[in-house]
Amino acid sequence: MPSSSTLKSLLITCVLAAFAFSTAWSYNCESCSSNPCSPDQTCEATQGCFNNKQQLQSLALGASLSLWSKGCNQKECTSLAFTASLGNGYTFWYDHRCCHSEKCNKDDISGPQKSSDPNGVKCYACYTDQNISCDPVPLNCTGTETKCAVIIGTEARGSTGPDARRAFAMGCTTESACQLNVTVLDNIDIRTYCIDPISGNPPLMPIISSMLTGLFLLNA
Ligand SMILES: *[C@@H]1O[C@H](CO)[C@@H](O)[C@H](O)[C@H]1NC(C)=O
Ligand SMILES: *[C@@H]1O[C@H](CO)[C@@H](O)[C@H](O)[C@H]1NC(C)=O
Ligand SMILES: *[C@@H]1O[C@H](CO)[C@@H](O)[C@H](O)[C@H]1NC(C)=O
Repeated sequence: MPSSSTLKSLLITCVLAAFAFSTAWSYNCESCSSNPCSPDQTCEATQGCFNNKQQLQSLALGASLSLWSKGCNQKECTSLAFTASLGNGYTFWYDHRCCHSEKCNKDDISGPQKSSDPNGVKCYACYTDQNISCDPVPLNCTGTETKCAVIIGTEARGSTGPDARRAFAMGCTTESACQLNVTVLDNIDIRTYCIDPISGNPPLMPIISSMLTGLFLLNA
């Protein structure tokens, strides 16, 4: 028979464990959507708090559309951040952050620090939100945008007929934007695909690779 003091300490351990469990497995997240925040939400640990900000900017129009939101993620939270420079002076960035502790999503996302230094990659770029195709022109990529992507957007909710809003874009993106299937700007489902960059100097690559092959053959 265990002594009563052993039982007592066992009980205390259980109560402490249950307390630790309940505080670790749910917490409050700030809850907002581009407006003053509503009361904090209590989230399950498996959901996580999210902090999302995204911005579409048009240099030509001198206008930008920013959206931000915070809350409990409905399913398991997956962080994702990418930037894109598209045709007609359009740029887009998206930052979805996940965290798992009390009010960990309270900070405001300020957006990426984008470098304007060319990185040597050149992509076809265009942008339209009126059509399903556009006329691509070459664009020099900068900073971390080292991939060439095609972006196809369809309206997430609402009409699917010929009147449905569509978007089509090409341009330079970060590698994280290569294979997306996400909803952006509240109601546009985008799918992205990366394609080969415009090669500035086509004959060079085969020459280098055949030289390398020759070296490997020599070594072997
Ligand atoms: C959509 O693209 C087609 C083919 O390039 C073009 O003929 C048409 O004028 C475009 N429509 C709009 C609204 O830009
Ligand atoms: C793009 O870069 C090339 C050099 O790689 C340069 O000759 C060209 O002027 C640049 N184009 C623009 C639009 O800046
Ligand atoms: C894209 O995402 C939607 C919703 O998250 C999902 O239903 C669909 O199957 C996905 N498509 C692909 C090809 O992964």
